[in-house]
This record gives sequence, structure tokens and C-alpha cells, in this order.
Amino acid sequence: MSSKGKKEGMDPDAGSGQDVYFPLNGGDFSDAGAGSKSLRSELAALGVPAWIIRRAAICAFEAEINVIIHAVAGSLHYLIEGETLTITVTDMGPGIEDIGLAMKEGYTTAPDWAKEYGWGSGMGLPNIKKNAGTLSIDSVPGEGTTIEIIINLAPPLNARQE
Ligand SMILES: Nc1ncnc2c1ncn2[C@@H]1O[C@H](COP(=O)(O)OP(=O)(O)O)[C@@H](O)[C@H]1O
Ligand SMILES: [Mg+2]
Repeated sequence: MSSKGKKEGMDPDAGSGQDVYFPLNGGDFSDAGAGSKSLRSELAALGVPAWIIRRAAICAFEAEINVIIHAVAGSLHYLIEGETLTITVTDMGPGIEDIGLAMKEGYTTAPDWAKEYGWGSGMGLPNIKKNAGTLSIDSVPGEGTTIEIIINLAPPLNARQE
């Protein structure tokens, strides 16, 4: 997906959907959390239940951190269309050679500097998988990674899981 021409913040061309884009830079924790925080407030303003907001924010935040600790640069983009939230996080970076391995709890290639900040427990992708409705990972080694997270904002009442 191309984010060309999009500005940070609300996209006036997005029609009724809420379409928002945030840049991320490798190594720069000052970018971390801007997208997930904006998403939280948008969802709260729409009256989305707190447990779904929590899940969406975990997914967005872990994906932001992954760009910052593993890649060179990227962006988080989210789109709210009716009852469907789509979060797309794309980066230029090393890519992921073995996605099955990367999904394993505790697997990490995080550099030492990230571990010094407390990151690199190898739980980010498994956590995203647990909290997302669907998670797709598209990665080209040496080029970059795109992950797409889809979350239903209005699941049936009996679908709640902690
Ligand atoms: N955006 C990314 N670019 C390159 N590699 C990634 C990316 N996201 C995840 N990975 C790979 O998958 C591994 C597991 O990711 P994750 O579960 O989030 O754990 P952690 O970030 O703590 O290492 C990472 O250590 C890295 O090897
Ligand atoms: Mg991670």
C-alpha cells in the first residue's frame, strides 16, 4: 500500500472512514506510541468497548515498536470503516526471513541497544496475533515488511475474550 501524498492526521479524501497515517523512524523512540495513542482516542470517541480498544492499541503499539527496533523507517496507517479497523504497518528494513520462527514466543533478533530499553522479549508478534482478528505479514528479506491487522470493532457480545 502506498502512503504517498498522505499527511499525518486525518485524510480529507477518506470519505466517511477515518484514515490516519503516522511516520516511524528506526531507532527513534520519540515516534513510538503516536499512532497507537491516536487510534485509542479515535476508537473511544466512536464508543468502541474498552476491551477492544485495548486489543487494538496493543497491536498498533507492538507493530510501531517493531519498526523502530528492527527497521530503518516506516509508517503506521489505520483506517476505520464502519465496524472494521485495519491497521497497516509498513517498513523499509531487513525483512523477516522465516515468519514462522518470528511468530514463536521468545524468538528475537533485537539489537542490544533495544534490549537496554527493555524491548526484545520476542513477544510482540505473538501478542499481536493474540489480540488481532486477523494478522497478515508480508515480508521481503533485504527490503522490508508490511503487516496488516484487522479487528472487528463490534463483535457479538459473547465473543469477548481477555
Ligand atoms: N518490522 C520488522 N522488520 C524486521 N524483522 C522483524 C520485524 N518485526 C519483527 N521482526 C522479527 O521478528 C522477531 C520477533 O518479533 P517480536 O515478536 O515483535 O519480538 P521482538 O520485537 O521483541 O524481537 C524480531 O526479533 C525480528 O527478528
Ligand atoms: Mg517486537
